[in-house]
Order: sequence, then C-alpha cells, then structure tokens
Amino acid sequence: METKEKTVLSGVKPTGEPHIGNYFGAMKQFVDLQEKYDESLFFIADYHALNTLHNADEMKQNIFEVALDYLAIGLDPKKVTIFKQSDIPQHAELAVIFNTITTMPYLMRAHAFKDAEAKNKEISVGTFDYPMLMAADILMYDTDAVPVGQDQKQHIEIARDTAEKFNRTFSDEFKLPEPLILKEVAVVPGTDGQKMSKSYNNTIPLFAEDTEIEKAVMSIVTDSKSPEEKKNPEEDNIFALHKLFSSIEELEGIEKRYKEGGMGYKESKEILIENIKKFISPMRERRKELEKDKDSIIKMLEENGEKMRERAEQKMQSVREKIGVSLK
Ligand code: AMP
Ligand code: TRP
Repeated sequence: METKEKTVLSGVKPTGEPHIGNYFGAMKQFVDLQEKYDESLFFIADYHALNTLHNADEMKQNIFEVALDYLAIGLDPKKVTIFKQSDIPQHAELAVIFNTITTMPYLMRAHAFKDAEAKNKEISVGTFDYPMLMAADILMYDTDAVPVGQDQKQHIEIARDTAEKFNRTFSDEFKLPEPLILKEVAVVPGTDGQKMSKSYNNTIPLFAEDTEIEKAVMSIVTDSKSPEEKKNPEEDNIFALHKLFSSIEELEGIEKRYKEGGMGYKESKEILIENIKKFISPMRERRKELEKDKDSIIKMLEENGEKMRERAEQKMQSVREKIGVSLK
C-alpha cells in the first residue's frame, strides 16, 4: 500500500482570473497531491492580495472566485481543507513575531522586492514583509511540502530560514518545509514567450471561453518563417504550449513536422486552439455549475475557517510560551 505523507499546503492570491501558468505550475499539483497526503490545506491568500488590491467589492468577489477555481479544477472538499487566510488572524500574529527575528538586509535580498525596486515601483511595507506572512502561513500548520511555481521558490527558502532562526533563538517549534516544483512546468511561458503573468498581459485564462482561447492563441508571437521552412520547435512559443496540451504521440508528430518543414504557424495555432478547448471546456462547465451554489461555498469557507482557527490557536499558544509572552 502506498504510504501517505503528512501535510501539504499552498495558497493562491485572489487577484483575478487564474491562467494556465498558475494551473500547470501549481494548481494541478494540488489536485494530484490531495490523494497522497494525510492532510491537504489550500487557502486563499487574501491578505497577500491586499498589497495590490484595494477595492472591497473586487476583493470579495475574487475570494469567492478562488474557492470556485479550487473546486472546479477537482479539489475534493472531503479530502482537502479550503480556507481563507484572513479567517485566521493568527497568521498575522505569527508574522509579527517573525518580523522581530528577521533583518531588513535579509528581506532586501528577496527577488520580488529587488524587482519592484529595479522598476522604481512604490513598495508598501506589506510587500516588503510579504515573505514573513508567507512563512507564517506555511509554518503555522507544520507543513511538510509546498507545491508552487518556480517564482515562489525563494519564498519557501525564506520560510525555512525563518523556522531555523526561530528554533535556534527560542527552542524547537517549527518544521522545515520542502518546495514541490515540477521542473517541466516551473515557468509556463505566455503568448509573448515571457513568463505567463497577469502583469504582462500575456495570459490564457484557465476558464476561458472558446473565443478568448482563439484570440489568445492567435496572438502568440512567432518569427516570420513560411510554412515550408524547417523550424526549431524549442524556439517557438506555440510549441511550448503544445507540450502542455498534446498527447505524447501528437507532440512527436508536431515536432517532426516542425523539423522537416511543412507545419505553418497558423496550422500549429489551430491545433493548439482545439486542444486547449478540449481541455478547458469540461472544467469551465463544472465551474459554471458550482457557481450557482454560492451559499454552500461560503458556508464551507466559514466552517473551515473556524476549524483552522482552533488549530492555529493551539500552535500559537505553544509559540507564545516559547517566546515568553504567555504568563501561564
Ligand atoms: P499567484 O496567482 O501569484 O498567487 O500564483 C499562484 C501559483 O501559480 C504560484 O505557485 C505561482 O508560482 C504559480 N505560477 C504563476 N505564474 C506561473 C507561470 N507562468 N508558470 C508556472 N507557475 C506559475
Ligand atoms: N506567494 C504566493 C503566490 O504569489 C501565494 C502564497 C501566499 C503562498 N502564502 C503562501 C503559496 C503559502 C504557498 C504557501 O503565488
């Protein structure tokens, strides 16, 4: 019998429509892992989203949307606990404690901070401190594994460092989590070949309607080779996406025709459109069904929030004792 492996946890920010980069890089793993772990915790990182989203109506709507996304991709509420970060104020409390054992220069080395600085963006204290809240999310539940895309690797290293620092400074309390990153899909490229990201406007939404799929695929940037010319599949943005949506045999066929010449970009895009449609439509339809029962989704979030709050409170009691603020 396959042995189960403890606790897996991950989160998604409610900042708008998920795209196929989020799905293949992170969310698809969630679905696979729910079978393997004793405990699967997937949450909606609303306080993380608050760094970039200051509109209450949109926030409310987006939170509901992530819960729907989770269910529509196949997370089974009987096997996983889906909850909302802000229902557990203990995350923020733990982040405050982590702030006191972490230095500014250490957090200034974080990629997300450096990128924002390089672009001369205004950086909120919340953005600067993002890794501490994320460390709290992860360490609160004695998490063993954190499935994410490559861009989150450093954040998990920071969580590990923070656990070690706490354990050294006070006494053993936190487990060191491992990132789970799938190599082949660590960075899913967008329609322009850069990393697929909402902020680059190069996404294919995970629950796109057929016309949106057509439009997004048709906008994929290619070079100007004619259909007859030989092409290197590894240099083509359309082929990069074929890898996600084709069967092995089909992919081999496409690769061969690229290399031999005779496969034009238009034809390649048409094949991709059909394959993406086939893949997305069942999930999209399931999502539409789930959407009709908003009340039961809200109820699920409330119940899970309560359950996780009790769990987090227990952990915090131990943490408060270790740092000496608990007088019992
Ligand atoms: P976010 O929407 O930023 O909360 O991201 C949710 C998850 O998707 C994180 O684990 C990211 O690492 C992952 N992710 C985002 N964009 C990509 C991409 N282009 N390729 C692979 N993974 C991604
Ligand atoms: N930072 C993650 C992202 O941008 C979201 C997130 C917040 C997260 N807390 C987490 C992911 C804890 C894994 C574990 O995608």
